[in-house]
Amino acid sequence: MTVVNLPQAPLFGSVAEVAQRLADVGYLASTGVATTVFLADRLGKPLLVEGPAGVGKTELAKAVAAATAAGLVRLQCYEGIDEARALYEWNHAKQLLRITAGQNRRETWDETRDDVFSEEFLLPRPLLTAIRRSEPTVLLVDEIDKADVEVEGLLLEVLSDYQVTVPEMGTVTAVRRPFALLTSNSTRELSEALKRRCLFLHLDFPDADLERRIVLSRVPELPEQLVDALVRTVRVLRGLELRKAPSVAETIDWGRTLLALGLDTLDDDAVRATLGVVLKHQSDAVKAAAELRLN
Ligand SMILES: Nc1ncnc2c1ncn2[C@@H]1O[C@H](COP(=O)(O)OP(=O)(O)OP(=O)(O)O)[C@@H](O)[C@H]1O
Ligand SMILES: [Mg+2]
Repeated sequence: MTVVNLPQAPLFGSVAEVAQRLADVGYLASTGVATTVFLADRLGKPLLVEGPAGVGKTELAKAVAAATAAGLVRLQCYEGIDEARALYEWNHAKQLLRITAGQNRRETWDETRDDVFSEEFLLPRPLLTAIRRSEPTVLLVDEIDKADVEVEGLLLEVLSDYQVTVPEMGTVTAVRRPFALLTSNSTRELSEALKRRCLFLHLDFPDADLERRIVLSRVPELPEQLVDALVRTVRVLRGLELRKAPSVAETIDWGRTLLALGLDTLDDDAVRATLGVVLKHQSDAVKAAAELRLN
């Protein structure tokens, strides 16, 4: 595999600048996160972000795009996603119409073929779109672990060579390297080949101080002592062996809920009334109620 070297100006001048510019667009990054983003940009490597649900993996890609005024191209992966959805496909209906029109005009097949396999009939999907863009681009490959392993092969090719071959048209090579960010919930192991190609970031639940700042930045109307209580309680819940531990997204939702209900202390009644916002399984709710002595 040839690695195409696309010299281009770095997006960020320093780790501190990464943290500052992400904060400016509402994403509060730990030093570890800011450092990895900085390195991914400097080394020109895709960034693979793995971690539990709701810790800010997808949001990080959106924040990098917003902070660098780049366009966000998103490939949402799911079981059964294939080349036609990820890379490109031909617009068969339009091709058929064109072939019929050619027959009516008594065109030769060679003439028709040259035309139907041209740009006009191509439907670019996210990977091809990202490669072809000449403007700054963040390519988000979201939930890569949901896709079948063949899609990883496809990605490897695109992310190593920054080029895509459309047999009927030739090879499309990137003129500008997109900042690529892949996310995974670790529902399955990714291939070693893909991991080797990427910088790896394990994004876990933030520490108490960072979580407090995240909640305050997303729900600024919340009184600080209520945010403290929320974060403390959520951390207790995460310490229990639950089926689904509450994530940052849920702490934020919980804050919004209390605000909507006009509650300004997190007493037992408030927790009991709103626990459904943070815990999504009945067995978790029962366990938490016992642990927090709510009954
Ligand atoms: N560091 C952060 N700064 C600001 N907001 C954050 C941060 N981390 C998480 N959030 C908030 O948490 C929400 C959930 O994050 P996101 O959707 O990125 O989670 P995810 O890790 O992609 O989860 P999933 O695996 O379920 O897709 C975001 O909408 C954002 O409001
Ligand atoms: Mg996500």
